[in-house]
Amino acid sequence: MGRCIVVTSGKGGVGKSTITATLGMAIAEAGARVTLVDADVGLNNLDLVLGIEGAVSYDITDVEKGRCRLGEALVEHPFNENLSLLSSRALGGGALSQKGFAAVITALRRSADYVMIDCPAGIDEGFHRAVSCADEALIVTTPVPASVRDADKVSDLLAAYRLRRVEVVVNRVRGDLVLKGEVLGVGDVMSALRLPVVGSVPEDDEVLLSATVGRISDRESECYRSVCMIASHVMMGTDMVYDCTKRYRGLIGFLRRMTR
Ligand SMILES: Nc1ncnc2c1ncn2[C@@H]1O[C@H](COP(=O)(O)OP(=O)(O)OP(=O)(O)O)[C@@H](O)[C@H]1O
Ligand SMILES: [Mg+2]
Repeated sequence: MGRCIVVTSGKGGVGKSTITATLGMAIAEAGARVTLVDADVGLNNLDLVLGIEGAVSYDITDVEKGRCRLGEALVEHPFNENLSLLSSRALGGGALSQKGFAAVITALRRSADYVMIDCPAGIDEGFHRAVSCADEALIVTTPVPASVRDADKVSDLLAAYRLRRVEVVVNRVRGDLVLKGEVLGVGDVMSALRLPVVGSVPEDDEVLLSATVGRISDRESECYRSVCMIASHVMMGTDMVYDCTKRYRGLIGFLRRMTR
């Protein structure tokens, strides 16, 4: 059975879908079979982030209601056949039951090495449905107090699920602001949440503007390199965290800071 990792946050808009898509791509590029599941029923956008919205014909609700087979609803990514998506495009496709969702996840785990669930924001029914099927969680936060506080609440709620691992990814980190002490650094987030921070992903204008995995997974980008380190951690337990402040250190770094 493949591992099931839920990507959650509490606060909305911190980059769960972006991290799910990019990390999924990085793990698939490393040779494992990855299925991404959009659990944000109604406000789904993982298909868009993956750049495959035109290829989605069926979604998880169709599978649960028996309107199609699981294989028919999975969309393989054109960049890598190891990566596929089970979308949740349908608004009005019928309510998605906890039991039905769990059955679909179990079926996916039989054929994938990793099933990654993109959790909806908030801590209501959709959150619990997504989390209850996982055995590991990645909490995404940005380096600001409001986001960290929500991550902390989520961490408390996750304690009830007895997950094997709960770890944190800090996203949208501006290294220049970390050095100026205007946003939190990795160490600050780690001590605030009392959880291991296994990834730090820089704020990247390209990601913001393009917002699709095609752009994000550009191998030269800082963003993708930082996510590849998270993929190594997930797959092999390495503990290297990308240093978002590095390019702002030294003389050249000082000039970069001045011109940012
Ligand atoms: N590292 C980054 N650098 C720049 N922009 C980013 C980064 N990560 C995410 N974004 C941008 O932040 C916005 C929110 O990202 P995303 O949709 O992944 O968040 P989310 O947590 O899934 O949101 P929601 O809670 O609504 O599901 C998007 O415009 C995305 O492009
Ligand atoms: Mg999202």
